[in-house]
Parts: sequence; C-alpha cells; structure tokens
Amino acid sequence: RLEGVEMAPPDPILGVSEAFKRDTSGDKLNLGVGAYRTEELQPFVLNVVRKAEERMLAANENKEYLPIEGLAAFRKATVELLLGADSPAIKEGRIACLQSLSGTGSLRIGAAFIAKFMPGAAAYISRPTWGNHKNIFADAGVEWKEYSYFDPETIGLDFGGMVADLQAAPEGSVVVLHGCAHNPTGVDPTPEQWEQIADVCVAKKLLPFFDVAYQGFATGSLDADAFAPRYFAQRGIEFAVAQSYSKNLGLYAERVGAISFVLSDKEAADRVLSQLKRIARAVYSNPPIHGARIVSEVVGSEEMFAEWKGEMEEMSGRIKAVRQVLFDELNKLEPNKDWSFILKQVGMFSFTGLSPAQCDHMTNKWHVYMTKDGRLSLAGLNKAKCKYLADAPSSNSHT
Ligand code: LMR
Repeated sequence: RLEGVEMAPPDPILGVSEAFKRDTSGDKLNLGVGAYRTEELQPFVLNVVRKAEERMLAANENKEYLPIEGLAAFRKATVELLLGADSPAIKEGRIACLQSLSGTGSLRIGAAFIAKFMPGAAAYISRPTWGNHKNIFADAGVEWKEYSYFDPETIGLDFGGMVADLQAAPEGSVVVLHGCAHNPTGVDPTPEQWEQIADVCVAKKLLPFFDVAYQGFATGSLDADAFAPRYFAQRGIEFAVAQSYSKNLGLYAERVGAISFVLSDKEAADRVLSQLKRIARAVYSNPPIHGARIVSEVVGSEEMFAEWKGEMEEMSGRIKAVRQVLFDELNKLEPNKDWSFILKQVGMFSFTGLSPAQCDHMTNKWHVYMTKDGRLSLAGLNKAKCKYLADAPSSNSHT
C-alpha cells in the first residue's frame, strides 16, 4: 500500500548538517545551520544554563506534566523579555501566551490557529525567508504568498517593494515579519520603516505575525532587538509572535519557545489561549519542562539575567569580530569589490549572493557547507578559518 511513497528531498537547512557529518575531510566547515560555535568551533553551553541546571538538580524537582499552556514562570518571563516588564499588555492580561516547541513548533501552532479561525487568510512571507516558513504554513493549511524584501542591487531592503506588496494584500491577511536579524538576509528595517510597516498593517487590517528567533543577535542587546514588537504593542496593534530560546540561550535541542497573541482585552486573550491549548493538546499534549525551567531560572532572576546579557553580548560580539576578519580577508583578495555588505548585515548570517551552483562548488570543492540560497552561518565560523573561506569563492569564479 505504501509503494507510492516517494523519497522526500533533504531539508534545505538540516539536510546540510547531515551531508556535513558524512564528509570526512579535515577542512570541512559547517556554515549551514544557524547554531553558535565557540572560536574553537565547538558547541557552546552558556554558563547561566549550566548554573540553572545545577540549581534545578539541587531542588530535586519532579517530572510531572506541565499544564497544556506551559510553565507559568516561563510564560511570564517570556512575554516580559519580549515586551518589557512594564508593558501595559502584560499588566492588563491581554496576552495569550502558550509555551511551545521553539520557533518551529510555536509558528506551527500559530499557523494552525490561523487556519482554523481565519479561514481563507493567506500568510505573506518575505522573499527570501527562512527555509522552513513555507513548510510550516503550507502543512498547517495556510496558503503562503510572498512580499518583496531583498534588493540584490543594493544588498539591502527593498522597502518600496515591501510596502507596495503589503498594501496590495487583501484585508485580513497575515504578514510574517522577522522581529530582528532577518533570516537569511541579515537586513532589518529601520525604526522609521517599522513605523510605516505598522501603518500599512493598521490601514489594511493585516495581522502581523512576528518570528522572533534571534532576540539579542542583531544589536547584542535583548531590549533593542525587541524594538519592532514593542512598537506594535505600543500602537495598540494586535499581533501574533513566535519566540525561540534556541539561539539566544543556546537551548537548541530543548525545544523551548512560545506562541503569543497580543490582543486588545483580557477576555479575548482568554478565549484565544483556550483555543491554542486545544490545538497543542492534539499535537503534543503539553510542552517539555526542562528547558522551560532553565528559562525561568535565567530570565526570571535579576542576577542570572544580568549574567546572561553578558554572555549574549559575548556571542554576538564574536560573530561581529568574525564578520570583520572575513571582510578584511576578502578586501585583501579583491580590493576593488565592495564587501561592506558583510559588515552591514546583522545577526548570525551573511547573505552572499552566491548562486546555487556556486554554493555547490563551495561544498564539493572546498568542503564548505552552506544553504543553497547563498547563506553562510557566521556563527559556525572562526577567525582562523576566514582566510580559507575567503579564498574559496574567488577560485570558484576563476574556474
Ligand atoms: C537556521 O535557520 O539555520 C535555524 O533556524 C535552524 C533551523 O531550524 O532551520
């Protein structure tokens, strides 16, 4: 009966890690997945996470089920991290927050909610966007469409195109916005541009759906990186937001994040939360506890939070330092080319403009693993390997 099942293609991002593992070359570099490595290219467990785990072990906590909506202390810390502890939306109980499975699981529960309660609404995603957005919305039964975002000429934001596309979207559509550190381009709107995006959302009654997976990695400051959702909340705009702790707390495999709807009143938030719970119950029942406890220990305690901020700055600082060295190496090699985009892009990635064939060449000849859209994860690079990387594409252009 299952003879007709075809082989699925490898995942555009996690499939790169699978191919990397199979490569036996000593030169190999995994610049595919957005996962932070140390300068020694080793995985990094934050000190605050280790500390939180020690405290948790000492407290001898049990493994009983969490409520469907997750750990209360985690949910409180998570909305406060996003909107600030003094946010009126939090004080007035206007947020429906459900602990969920990192960015992907949170987006998926949000998408399922949209499919159920906003039937016929399409989700507008940026062109390009993170390799999993299309799957998530399509599999949840939400049609996706694209809006202009990136201008390859300027290697910057095509703001005019973006606004025009959003203005042309039918009223009541969903618009997926990267809260900060746009993946894969590393190009974010300015505060003034966010204001105009908010204007269009209000005028066209669009539901903004923020994907906040990199809070802390754009500027190095957790607060500054939350500018966009904080601004929308201040304007009284209703929106959805998926948050992930995979990157900023390095809790990749713990699958810890949240889906929230910021609404106009508490009564609406209660109703929405009841439906989010209904959806989650049928998918995974209730969320995992370990990562949620770590988050509540770190984000919910003043002393640990301060230490986390320091470690966050260290991670984002290391990526910035790598950007600079890569820029310097490329400049030495080809001084007549403008490499400034490498320094201007923010977050974990550099969007190189390499074609799929050039990306293949990088992998096949140089053992540099990257996604086919030309994205390099600088979080997986160190200073010592920048020269090797800089040399690779230039010899490609000579072959
Ligand atoms: C990435 O874009 O590399 C990360 O968000 C990891 C993932 O789940 O794709």
